[in-house]
Amino acid sequence: MSANSFGSALHVTTFGESHGVALGVVVDGLEPGIPIDVQELRRMMERRRPGANALGTARKEQDEVSILSGMFQGLTTGAPLAMEIRNGDQKSSDYDEIAGLYRPGHADWTWQQKFGIRDWRGGGRSSGRETSSRVAAGAIAMQILKLKGIGIVAGTVRIGDVAASRRDWDVAPSNPLNCPDEQAAIGMQERIEAARKAQDSVGGIIECIATGLPPGLGEPVFDKLDAKIAQAMLSIGAVKGIEFGDGFSCALSSGSRFNDEMALDGNGKPMFLTNHAGGVLGGMSSGAPLVFRIAVKPTPSISLPQRTMDLDGRERIVEVHGRHDPCVCPRAVVVVEAMAAITILDAWYTAFGRVPRPSDIR
Ligand SMILES: Cc1cc2nc3c(=O)[nH]c(=O)nc-3n(C[C@H](O)[C@H](O)[C@H](O)COP(=O)(O)O)c2cc1C
Repeated sequence: MSANSFGSALHVTTFGESHGVALGVVVDGLEPGIPIDVQELRRMMERRRPGANALGTARKEQDEVSILSGMFQGLTTGAPLAMEIRNGDQKSSDYDEIAGLYRPGHADWTWQQKFGIRDWRGGGRSSGRETSSRVAAGAIAMQILKLKGIGIVAGTVRIGDVAASRRDWDVAPSNPLNCPDEQAAIGMQERIEAARKAQDSVGGIIECIATGLPPGLGEPVFDKLDAKIAQAMLSIGAVKGIEFGDGFSCALSSGSRFNDEMALDGNGKPMFLTNHAGGVLGGMSSGAPLVFRIAVKPTPSISLPQRTMDLDGRERIVEVHGRHDPCVCPRAVVVVEAMAAITILDAWYTAFGRVPRPSDIR
């Protein structure tokens, strides 16, 4: 297994299992002299933390991050920034019943076939808990991007059959889904509660918008910005699809409607009159907001009985008990923001290098 690192100019390597001693991340290639707000890092971790809101798992992890290296007097040094998140509230006994069974929809079968051994306690590396390391790295990337004038926000825009019809990002933080439509957020939360009561789960869609990207981030032809974002997003557990801008509906459009025409703005600068493309042309950022949506499948671990196999090749019925999220979306929103930040900062360093602008240094 050798695919635990992401990035070309910025290398992000995660380690650790759901029920091991700790998880963590090493972020190598950061520019030196950048102030890091540790409280802001903690706030971002809190948004992913299990037990942080009523919609998720009953598991309670503190997700306390320790910075082990790469910072001095509050500034990045340019050396590898290592962060550790200790595991606390593990109940490995929750998994005793299913140690010898493959959970439908989870990575148990493929992991066993490929590696011949798997840490069945909590799903090991394929647990949603692995994403805590990504959020820690993303929180750092997000702060550096902010200094470059780049902002990233993500929120749930669909849960099952309940969809957001507004995009008011100011109201999003007031609900646990970070949904930009207050009214729809209520229906979405009811939908998740209904899934929990039915011992089932439900999927959804998360939208992400990054603003302030200069034209030219992304490297044609294999490291196009949209290709790298797609890789980053599809590497998050339970993400099954991605679309940019108008997405799959482009297939129903025509060139005259879909093309984003250009004109001069009030200051005589070139601008796009629409953003059907979602901010990427030819794999490079166009300067328009980067807009994409990901489809998240229903959480695989459910307590309803389902047919499966055991390790000895017998047909069995499995009911997955324990403390699972009835919907992945509420906790995945911040993971999407984190992976977007890592990918965009990597694209920035690849395009422009990692020398900080003098104005970035205190
Ligand atoms: C933040 C987050 C939380 C998750 N929580 C759970 C969970 O409680 N139970 C579960 O079975 N899967 C959970 N998942 C999904 C699994 O990690 C994922 O479905 C599994 O690794 C299989 O990968 P795949 O769905 O991409 O094929 C979570 C994923 C994320 C990103």
